[in-house]
Amino acid sequence: MISKDTIQQIQSRIDIVDIIGSFVKLKRRGANYLGLCPFHNEKGPSFTVSGAKEIYKCFGCGKSGNTISFLMEHEKYTYAETLRWLANKYNIEIEETEVSPEAKFYQQSADSLYVINNFGQKFFTEALFDTEEGQDVALSYLKERGFREEIIKKFQLGYNPAAGEAFSKAAILAQYNAELLQKSGLVVMRDDRLKDNYRERIIFPIHNQSGKVLGFGARLIKKNDKAPKYINTPENEIYVKSKVLYGSYFARMAIDKADECLLVEGYTDVVSLHQAGVENVVASGGTSLTIDQLRLVKKYTNNLTIIYDGDGAGIKAAVRGMDLALEEGLNVRLVLIPDNEDPDSYVNKIGASAFIQFVENNKKDFVIFQLGLSLHEAGNDSAKKSAIVNKIAETISKITKAEHFTKRQDYVKQVAEMLKIEEAGLNNLVNKFIREKVQKAENSGQFATGNEKLLEAGKEEGEENLVDILFNKDENQERAIVRSLLEFGMKKWDENNTIADYIFKEMDANDLESMIENKNLITIINLYKTWYKEGKNPTDKDFLYYEDAKLNNLVINLMDSQTEISVKWVEKFEARVSSREDLFREEVISTLGYFKLRKLKKLITQNQLEMEKSTNETDQFLFVKIHIALKAEEQALTDKMGTVIFK
Ligand code: UTP
Ligand code: MN
Repeated sequence: MISKDTIQQIQSRIDIVDIIGSFVKLKRRGANYLGLCPFHNEKGPSFTVSGAKEIYKCFGCGKSGNTISFLMEHEKYTYAETLRWLANKYNIEIEETEVSPEAKFYQQSADSLYVINNFGQKFFTEALFDTEEGQDVALSYLKERGFREEIIKKFQLGYNPAAGEAFSKAAILAQYNAELLQKSGLVVMRDDRLKDNYRERIIFPIHNQSGKVLGFGARLIKKNDKAPKYINTPENEIYVKSKVLYGSYFARMAIDKADECLLVEGYTDVVSLHQAGVENVVASGGTSLTIDQLRLVKKYTNNLTIIYDGDGAGIKAAVRGMDLALEEGLNVRLVLIPDNEDPDSYVNKIGASAFIQFVENNKKDFVIFQLGLSLHEAGNDSAKKSAIVNKIAETISKITKAEHFTKRQDYVKQVAEMLKIEEAGLNNLVNKFIREKVQKAENSGQFATGNEKLLEAGKEEGEENLVDILFNKDENQERAIVRSLLEFGMKKWDENNTIADYIFKEMDANDLESMIENKNLITIINLYKTWYKEGKNPTDKDFLYYEDAKLNNLVINLMDSQTEISVKWVEKFEARVSSREDLFREEVISTLGYFKLRKLKKLITQNQLEMEKSTNETDQFLFVKIHIALKAEEQALTDKMGTVIFK
C-alpha cells in the first residue's frame, strides 16, 4: 500500500488545470476553465474545471470529480495506478507501508506467475514458428483455418510440442520453481516427473489490461474424443476466470472508440474478428457473464452486443448473465449467427464487410428479443403467457438505478404493447419485484442504495409518486446537514464550541443519525468526526481525495448544490441577507430543527397507532398524555425555528 504521507505529498502537488489540460484543450473563462467534454460528444464546450475547488464538472453529461477520478475515468487507471502516475509526474518517491507476510507471499507468487507465463508464451511462440514440428503441425493448421501470420503474432499464439516434456524441461533448466510451475497450469506432476499439461495443443495466451499474460487456453489440434477440446489455466493468484475477458487488452481502445463492446464465445471468434478489422470484441469463454466481467466492460462502454450462434448452449449461458447486465445499467443487444456457424466461421464464410453489415442489421434489444422468443414458444397457452408476463416484469425490475428510470419506463411501455396488456398493470408488477428485492436486501442487512430507498418510500406513497420522491425534500435536508458540517464545521458556534461540536451534540442528544437514510452521508459524518477528534480541521477537500469514489462524488455534488436550499430565504429576506455566510448559524439550526421535527412526527404517528390498537383505559390514557407532550414539543420546536428564521 502507498503510504498516507506519499498520498498527501501527491495531493499537495496536484494542479487539476494542468493535468486535465494535458488531455483536454482548456480555455480560461472567469475563475474557471472551459473545454469540450472528453466523456461525451459535444460541439459547444460545457466541461468546466475549477482550480480553486479542485474539481471538474460537465454540464452536458453531468460527469464530475477531482483530478484522481478524472485520471481513473479517462485513463481507466485504478486508484493505485493513478497515484503512481501522479507520483511519477511530480517526481515524488513512493513510500510503501508495511505489508503482512501473507500479502507479501501472495504478491511474490503473483509476480513469479507472471514471469513464468511470460517465459511460457515465448517458448510456445518459438515452438510454433521456429521448429519443424510447430510449422508442420500447428502453423499449417492455423493457416488452414484462415489465420494470417500477423494476427497469430499479434495475439502471441503458440504451440506446445507433442513430446510430453518439451516445455517442462526448458522450464526446469531455466530454474523455475516446480511448485509455481504447477500452479501456473503449464505443467503437471505425473509419476514423480513434471510433464507438459498442454502437449500437442495450440496455445492462446490470455492478457490482462496492461498486456501481461495471466493464463492460457490450449486447444487440441487433432480431434480426440477422450480429451477436452480446450484446457484452461486453473485458478491461481493471477488467473481468476470470473474476472477475465479474453481479448480485452487488444480491444480496449476500439471499444472506447466505438462506444460498444462485442461479446463472443470463443478464442477463435475474437482472433478472427480482429483479423477482419472488427477489434472491439472480447470473449467470455462460453460461460455466463459474471459481475466482474460486466464491470470490466462498463469501464469502457455502456453498450454490450452479444454475438452468439443461435442454437448453441452458449446463448443460454449468456442469457443467464443478462439480468446482471441490466442491473449494471448496460444496454444489451443480441445478434444471432445463423446456420450453425459461429462468428469465426461466419466471418470466414461471408467476408469482413458482409459480416459487419450483418451485425449492424440484426441487432435486437435483449429484453425485447427474450420476450419475442418466449411468446413464440408459448403460442396460445394462456398459463404460459402469464408466466411470461411475470418473467419479463422481473427482468425489467432489474433496472433499478435512478438514472435509468426512463429506460425502465420505455421497456414497460413497449412490453405492454407487445403483450397487449395495460401499462399500469405491468408497472405495478415490476414495482412489486423491486420491492421484494429491497425487502430481501434489507432483511439480509445490506445497505439500501438511494434508489431502493426511493422505491421503498414509493410503496407507501403510491407508485406514481416515484418521481416526486426522486426530488424529495428530506434527502435535501439530510444533505444540508452534512453540507453545513463540511462548510461551516470549523467556524465558531459560541465561545467554547465549533459548529461541528454543536452539530454532533445535537445529533447525539436527539439520535438524529437514525433519521438519515443515505448511509453514505453517515459515513461522511463519521469520518469527519474521526478526523476532527484526531485534531485535524476537516473540510470538503479531505473527502475529494478519499479513496471511495462514491464519497468524493457525493461531496462534490453536496458542495455544488450550495444555493439550492437557501434560495427561499434569499427571496424572502432579500433586503437583509447579504450572503449565505451570514446565515450559517440559522442554517444549522434550521436543518437540525427540521430533522428533530421529522423525528417527533414519526413518534407521534407511532403513538397514535398504539393508541388505536390499545383496548384498556389506563393504556389509552397514557398514550393520550404522550400525545399531548409530543405535540407540545413539536409546537415549541416550530416556534423556535420560526423565531430563528423570522427574528
Ligand atoms: P467452442 O467449442 O465453440 O470453441 O467453445 P471455439 O472457440 O469455436 O473453437 P474452434 O473454433 O472450434 O476452434 C467456445 C469457447 O468455450 C470455451 C473456450 O473458451 C472456447 O473458445 N471452451 C470450450 C472451454 O473452455 N473448454 C472446452 O472444452 C470447450
Ligand atoms: Mn469456432
